[in-house]
Amino acid sequence: MPDPQLVLATRVQDALSAAFGPSYANTDPVIRPSQFADLQANVALPLAKRLQQERGEKQNPRSVAEEILAHLDVADVASGVEVSGPGFINFTFDDAWIAAQAQALLADKRLGVPRAEHPQRVVVEYSSPNVAKEMHVGHLRTTIVGDAIARILDFLGHEVIRDNHVGDWGTPFGMLIEHLLDLGEDAAARDDSSVSDLTAFYQAARQKFDGDEAFAVRSRNRVVALQAGDPETIRLWTVLVEASKRYFNTVYERLGISLTDDDIKGESFYNDLLAPTVQELEDKGIAVVSDGALCAFPPGFTGREGEPLPVIIRKRDGGYNYSTSDLATIRYRVDTEHVDRMIYVVGAPQALHFQMVFAVARMAGWLNEGVRAEHAQIGNVLGTDGKILRTRAGGTVKLAELLDEAVQRAGQEFDAIERDTPFDEATRADIVEKVGIGAVKYADLSVSLDSEYIFDFDRMIAFKGNTGPYLQYATARIRSIFRRAGVAPESATGRIVLGEPAERALALQLLSFGAVLEQAGEAAEPHKLAGFVYAVADAFTTFFENCPVLKAPDEATRDSRLALCAATLGVLTTGLDLLGVPVPERM
Ligand code: ARG
Repeated sequence: MPDPQLVLATRVQDALSAAFGPSYANTDPVIRPSQFADLQANVALPLAKRLQQERGEKQNPRSVAEEILAHLDVADVASGVEVSGPGFINFTFDDAWIAAQAQALLADKRLGVPRAEHPQRVVVEYSSPNVAKEMHVGHLRTTIVGDAIARILDFLGHEVIRDNHVGDWGTPFGMLIEHLLDLGEDAAARDDSSVSDLTAFYQAARQKFDGDEAFAVRSRNRVVALQAGDPETIRLWTVLVEASKRYFNTVYERLGISLTDDDIKGESFYNDLLAPTVQELEDKGIAVVSDGALCAFPPGFTGREGEPLPVIIRKRDGGYNYSTSDLATIRYRVDTEHVDRMIYVVGAPQALHFQMVFAVARMAGWLNEGVRAEHAQIGNVLGTDGKILRTRAGGTVKLAELLDEAVQRAGQEFDAIERDTPFDEATRADIVEKVGIGAVKYADLSVSLDSEYIFDFDRMIAFKGNTGPYLQYATARIRSIFRRAGVAPESATGRIVLGEPAERALALQLLSFGAVLEQAGEAAEPHKLAGFVYAVADAFTTFFENCPVLKAPDEATRDSRLALCAATLGVLTTGLDLLGVPVPERM
């Protein structure tokens, strides 16, 4: 499906080349939305300056625009083109062209979204919670945003490797295992055990470690045993990992996250690769001993006094750390998984860590022009007071409680809507769960991922505005039209004819789906898709209020509008599915 912006950009570039020579073919045509037409090309303004230098005489942007216009061949797509203002070129698309494109979108299973010409193998690393610790709102956001990125890239035809880099290794496991032994192991197998309350379990272990010297000694010895691969210790460690996985999976299931156990490649997975990774860095002369620790000094990273900043690769005590593990991970992904791109969906506070790790990986040659590594920095989630989200008592907010509250509030909103026939209890519960979860997920996705955002139930659960429920409601409205018409959306394939401005605006909006998805995938920015889906729902609302479907003036108009509704439903449900927002059939 040709994106309207792209269609114009191409035509304007052809005209530039014809008017001024082939060296102008790649000039940015500066396509922008227009108040007076569908789009405008503003290239004449910067181009006049360039021509002035080349021709050695003053150039009037308006005349430059006229020159472009004289070479512009858009008869098949535009119904009007004119120069306006200081040299803008205004375009209005031909209704018949828009209708034909919308018709093609409706007939296409992929709704006009092309598959990537050069599919890439992409690791999307996300969620990555820590074993024996509760997931917090920060993990909630990396989980939701990462899943959307993975779904979008999947749909675009890339080979996506979902990667849950759980924190399942390191010194805390000594005390956690000893605490497990103190509690009695089978306690852990029971679901009502204190292991299922991970926060309490972790805190209790920590307390003993800090206050009980004998326990601390046992814990340290246990770390040594774990790292040496002692079978009994590994078995106990596995008990903890399995209990945590059960907990993660309940969260993923409730949120509709596409991660499975097969996607888990935690820090422990790279344990055997740490030594060879460090060896390679030493062999390449990148890692050097400084203050007893083995370090790399990537160029360009300096401290306050201008001193070079190290990435510590092996601590003074011989132990490896978080950076070593991330370097081994990159090396593995490049050498063994042969990936083209890796996207780290991780909180913004880790930005410097990733910049420095990537820099060392470039020094080692693991990252080069052929392999992209990006940190999709997830901004902090704040409470309505603008501070890091906390419970009223000041504790960390538990994820499950947060989701329960969202669903409960969604129920209140839902019940406030007047209905002729109320839903039965089971249907209501199902809808309300989807609305509550959808609201939380969409709120996470609709702002750019690196910006901080305020977790505000009242705003996210409103049925109006840029919210999940508003979008879900738009799809439910469309389905209700089809139910009343007694027609399945799939069989609404009538001829699309555009008469009313609201019909035209809706059809035109739908045509950008493919281009928007491509941009969202390229930038790893799901909020681009969210903004588009919202714009579609808004265009639909205007259409719905102005253009009767079932009571259309004649049968042809009714068929056309039903077809337009079907195309809209397809784009909305596919868009929401790629965002991972659940969509109830009725609301
Ligand atoms: N487990 C870490 C945390 O909860 C996130 C891991 C991020 N990924 C990585 N490759 N370092 O903060």
